Amino acid sequence: MIKKEILITSAAIDRRVAEIADVISRDYEGKEVLLIGILKGAFVFMADLIRKLHLSCKVDFVRLASYGTGTVSSGKIMITKDIETPIKGKNVLIVEDIVDTGLTLSFLVEKLKERDPHSLKVCVFLDKKERRKTPFEADYIGFDIPDRFVVGYGLDFNEMYRFLPDICEIKDSQEIGEENGRSM
Ligand code: IMP
Repeated sequence: MIKKEILITSAAIDRRVAEIADVISRDYEGKEVLLIGILKGAFVFMADLIRKLHLSCKVDFVRLASYGTGTVSSGKIMITKDIETPIKGKNVLIVEDIVDTGLTLSFLVEKLKERDPHSLKVCVFLDKKERRKTPFEADYIGFDIPDRFVVGYGLDFNEMYRFLPDICEIKDSQEIGEENGRSM
């Protein structure tokens, strides 16, 4: 069993998600919003967030993958499951578990802008600003965290630990390679 340590408790998560939901509800007051969750990691955050919003919203999901062999990512991203909703003229809010290098969200934002939404914003649960390879700033951020590999609340290590209610840091550093275990 890999050693883990709680970094953010489920109670703290609950409070913070309610705060972000209040801000988003105020910003979009009277408007309809389409939330686009990035699979798989965002599913837990998105489910909690949507139930705390005081808004009329619809949902869709996108799945992305990075090209590359084995555990080394080339940094090139592709859409493996597209959204099924036309977004032209709509208020779109992308919901993601974590922004790390920034490559995934920069790619998705550019792709979705081409479809001419009325507005396009990004809400991330966690932000690891130290790790950026490309400049990227989310509009709504749950927590800023240091450069640690974390699991739980939807985030995985090789598909494990998504079910944990807290955000936990993996302590066995040799288990985590540079890109190892990052499966989106
Ligand atoms: P990017 O590096 O910003 O493109 O993020 C790529 C993906 O890596 C994210 O969508 C996450 O699913 C995953 N990821 C990045 N850091 C972590 C982590 O600490 N734990 C689990 N997944 C992570």
